[in-house]
Amino acid sequence: MSEFPPIRKAVFPVAGLGTRFLPATKSIPKEMLPIVDKPLIQYAVEEAVEAGIDTIIFVTSPKKRAILDHFDSDVKLQSSLLAQGKHDLYERIAEIVPAHVSTDYVIQKEALGLGHAVWCARQQVGDEPFAVLLADDLIRAPQSGCMKQMVDEYYATGAGVIGVQQIPASMTDQYGIVAVEKNSDGRDYIRAIVEKPAPEVAPSNLGVVGRYILPGEIFRLLELVRAGVGGEIQLTDAIAIQLATWPLMAHAFDGVRYDCGSRKGFIRATLSYALEHDELREDLLAFFKNANEVN
Ligand code: G1P
Repeated sequence: MSEFPPIRKAVFPVAGLGTRFLPATKSIPKEMLPIVDKPLIQYAVEEAVEAGIDTIIFVTSPKKRAILDHFDSDVKLQSSLLAQGKHDLYERIAEIVPAHVSTDYVIQKEALGLGHAVWCARQQVGDEPFAVLLADDLIRAPQSGCMKQMVDEYYATGAGVIGVQQIPASMTDQYGIVAVEKNSDGRDYIRAIVEKPAPEVAPSNLGVVGRYILPGEIFRLLELVRAGVGGEIQLTDAIAIQLATWPLMAHAFDGVRYDCGSRKGFIRATLSYALEHDELREDLLAFFKNANEVN
């Protein structure tokens, strides 16, 4: 057992408008758009559960009822599938979240930024260290999921952890960017973090992806920060203050990240997951081979 408090709670900010996917997201939350046959949000929730999280907290808007419904059990549908002998379909919905995992939600009344969204969950989280997952960043890992890798790093060191990846130098203005320094234990500790700097002033090209393990103290710091980049309360700005009192590591995860907040990333993820799918791979490859022929 680790000497550090367990990471049991995860916050999922899901109140965003998803305008890049209009008209699809006019009435459907973008997090409910499927990659093959599973909504985007379910991948992130499964990643959290694999990492040992047992309390899922959605920060949502009143228009996003569909997300809560998805994670609620639907006894009627379950018994009807069982009565029809459709056991495989039953399995797919029976344990969308395992019985030991609870879901909770809090409403973000105004879209004031990611920092504000996380702050909205302060009562549900309390003082303990917790995880934040941005479902737009879909990460496929060859073995342990990204959050499991990060939780392991936390248990080994007690430090906070932020998922990072190398990004093209020209794209620093689309990410939180960290400057790191290697410790004697070989781990990269964050020395500075800045939200969406221009390439000329970026401290590195290590971009933050939407995975964080943070101390409960971050909520107090979120109250102090003013609106930053884009006029929004930025999580990055509170983390920058947190660095003075709590060590934070940058974890270059093992895996591939798809930016499903963009159409390009979403389609890449769809194709990539379909190509991994036993029932779809052959057909998809044949389709691409003959793509110029009439089907
Ligand atoms: C947010 C964070 C940013 C991070 C990014 C990862 O930005 O503010 O630091 O790099 O998520 O996806 P957003 O993409 O919501 O503008």
